[in-house]
Amino acid sequence: MELKGDEFRRQWISYSTPGLCQSAAMLPPAGHLLSLLLVIGTGGTVPSPRLSPQGCYVAEEAGERTFRCSQAGLRAVPTGIPNDTRKLYLDANRLASVPAGAFQHLPVLEELDLSHNVLAHVSGAAFQGLAGTLRHLDLSANQLASVPVEAFAGLQIQVNLSANPWRCDCALQEVLRRVRLAPGTETGIVCGPGARSDLVGQEFLPLVEEEELCGTGRGGARHSTDVALLVTMGGWLVLVVAYLAQYVWENRDGTRRPLKRAPVPPVHSEDSSTLSTVV
Ligand SMILES: *[C@@H]1O[C@H](CO)[C@@H](O)[C@H](O)[C@H]1NC(C)=O
Ligand SMILES: *[C@@H]1O[C@H](CO)[C@@H](O)[C@H](O)[C@H]1NC(C)=O
Repeated sequence: MELKGDEFRRQWISYSTPGLCQSAAMLPPAGHLLSLLLVIGTGGTVPSPRLSPQGCYVAEEAGERTFRCSQAGLRAVPTGIPNDTRKLYLDANRLASVPAGAFQHLPVLEELDLSHNVLAHVSGAAFQGLAGTLRHLDLSANQLASVPVEAFAGLQIQVNLSANPWRCDCALQEVLRRVRLAPGTETGIVCGPGARSDLVGQEFLPLVEEEELCGTGRGGARHSTDVALLVTMGGWLVLVVAYLAQYVWENRDGTRRPLKRAPVPPVHSEDSSTLSTVV
């Protein structure tokens, strides 16, 4: 039993990165022992082709091909994820960003767990190639202040955005117009220190019911259209005023001329009368 355990540990270490060694050492002893017993219980040998170089493993969960890399000390999305993976667990690692096309070689991926990392940046093309398949995305418990709305273009997904230091701006409002929130996670979207000072610590959803964040402030997509509208209306106003001024000026000229002419007829009549008297 001990020999097998040692053997397992040696194999485990040989397949794992230094980061994994650290995280495995940090695991509670009970959990470690349990995973050890589980592996030994299922035949005693570690199926080496199924253990990826980064300390991840393939499993069948509810009939779905699953790839688990939880708590593996990863700093990047691992390579060599089987292309028939439907559920991918990359939670509790050290991932800081999700680059463009990070999962595009996984054509049947339905569920993606990126929670409990240190994600601060998600590319606008991070989930490119997953439009037809991805259903659940967990981005909770990271360092996200914002996520580009383009990242969710074409996706029909349910997301968990809880426990991030959200900037609570127009960008987040637009994201929430695009995605559905996982049930029960609505209250978990709280504004972080990067948000407008009066919003820090506030829940986001009740806030956007009261205030349209895309109408004002920096980064507001509608801000520029507002300015364009204002300029156009200003232009029209100038045109209308100029036209009116010209109209009034011409009319003034027009009313002056008859006024000047008005005294003429009496003169004429006088003339004619004088003429008639003369005649
Ligand atoms: C995975 O890749 C193999 C070989 O490259 C290919 O034959 C297979 O159809 C792919 N599976 C999926 C689900 O795309
Ligand atoms: C959402 O994320 C939070 C924080 O990680 C977690 O506690 C919660 O269970 C998650 N909810 C769902 C529905 O996934």
